Amino acid sequence: MAAVSVFKPGLFNHKVAVVTGGGTGIGKAISTELLELGCSVVISSRNAERLQKVAKEMRQKIPASSPASVTPVACNIRNEDEVKNLVSSVLKQYGRIDYLVNNGGGQFSSPAEHMTSKGWKAVIDTNLTGTFHCCKEVYSAYMKKHGGVIVNIIAEMWKGFPGMAHTGAARAAVDNLTKSLAIEWASAGVRVNAVAPGTIFSKTAMENYKELGPQLFKTSVPFSPAKRLGVPEEISSVVCFLLSPAASFISGATLKVDAGQSLYRTMWEIPDHQAWPEAPEGENLAALKELLEPQSKL
Ligand code: ADE
Repeated sequence: MAAVSVFKPGLFNHKVAVVTGGGTGIGKAISTELLELGCSVVISSRNAERLQKVAKEMRQKIPASSPASVTPVACNIRNEDEVKNLVSSVLKQYGRIDYLVNNGGGQFSSPAEHMTSKGWKAVIDTNLTGTFHCCKEVYSAYMKKHGGVIVNIIAEMWKGFPGMAHTGAARAAVDNLTKSLAIEWASAGVRVNAVAPGTIFSKTAMENYKELGPQLFKTSVPFSPAKRLGVPEEISSVVCFLLSPAASFISGATLKVDAGQSLYRTMWEIPDHQAWPEAPEGENLAALKELLEPQSKL
């Protein structure tokens, strides 16, 4: 059974949204909820074939009475010209872009010491530069004159992101970009916010991580104060809130949607080691040594 939005039917009637990465996982849930609420949605990603298939599936769920429509547009957000084409094609078709959801992104697991410069750059290019391209183009081509709302989807990286340092760095940068743009574009009536999801389970994320997927998701459960993983629909509702007039006084904010995960334990295990520099000599170190390794007074 599909999730049903908690928001008022028709909330986004006659509005137009661009959702990058809109065909899978969190992006698919966001696009689905926006459509349900009457918004026309342009879903974008690199994979044209998958986008077409998802758009067809989404179209079948739109009631005949709804003004909503879904349009798939293939675009590699790393490429500025492709982003320009995406935005101009949306404006040609719909004449407006009220909302931009920067959800497109990707990463791979690797300790930092094994990342190549190419792998590092690819992740920074997609998650940070791709988001910048989309924000800049939508702003210049439409929102500067008409206002609008931007939501950037980042990640739970508040204690660093050991094992995926590239995406941690990129997402932290987008958190900061969100604040800069919120101030620079306030005078155009553009609100810019971010959402930082905790560990979210989706069918597509499972497939992306291949054979590592099931174990990765299962092992992460105890690290959530909720003792369960989130689902994409728990992110899409927050994105709809931020896009809606209910959030008309919110800009430059990052909403953590992680059930408190960022306040709790990290999954990264540090092995016992003797590599740390010695503490300075003195009475406190002596007392500490005595506490940990009491010298027999006998
Ligand atoms: N999702 C992941 N990588 C992407 C890219 N380069 N362009 C658009 N969507 C993406």
